Amino acid sequence: SDPKPLAGRKAIVTSGPTHEPIDPVRYIANRSSGKQGHAIAAALARLGADVTLVSGPVTIPDPLGVRVVRVERAEEMRDAVVAALPADVAVMVAAVADWRVASAAGNKIKKRPGEAPPPLSLAENPDILKTIGHHASRPKLVIGFAAETENVAENGRAKLERKGADYIVANDVSPKTGIMGGDRNRVKLIARDGTQEWPEMGKDAVADKLAALIAAKLVR
Ligand code: C5P
Repeated sequence: SDPKPLAGRKAIVTSGPTHEPIDPVRYIANRSSGKQGHAIAAALARLGADVTLVSGPVTIPDPLGVRVVRVERAEEMRDAVVAALPADVAVMVAAVADWRVASAAGNKIKKRPGEAPPPLSLAENPDILKTIGHHASRPKLVIGFAAETENVAENGRAKLERKGADYIVANDVSPKTGIMGGDRNRVKLIARDGTQEWPEMGKDAVADKLAALIAAKLVR
């Protein structure tokens, strides 16, 4: 069989958190490390895919053999993903901030003695997975992740429908699992026709298994 089943195929992967500025020196962020998204980009590249990895700010190294587009904010991530279309597969792994600061200050907000704390008013960020799942140039395969702390399978299935995805990889990120920021993962693969539970394995192994599934679905 072909050792590079994804040769000639284009993939877009998002990874990491987004940083949403409050002012030039402060931001809202989350605990995503980028480990799972980067591992998926690397795994797809090993199968021969032409991979664009759109990454929020992370401290881990760039994966080998992929084109990396670095962004900070959700809106920048959306623009970079849309600019990378068309593609055969999109895997949206980034922990995109749900909200941004409605109007980030152009200058550092000063703390002045005796003044009340400044209010933070938030605006909803674009949903990148949903944008891609319903896009006129929708990739043949659109895969999302769902970090949940409860009702993992139920919430994942609802997400599949709402976002126009073919698969949702759902994981339980309750603090007790150690998944967020850790090296291991335990996921449920949710498809229209059913749910598979994968055993706990390293994030690299999850990436390889998902890349193999993508190859099987795209190459027939
Ligand atoms: O709705 P929720 O954030 O739980 O959905 C998670 C999935 O949606 C992930 O695949 C994530 O990358 C994607 N997402 C996105 N843009 C957002 C929010 C989530 O692409 N603004």
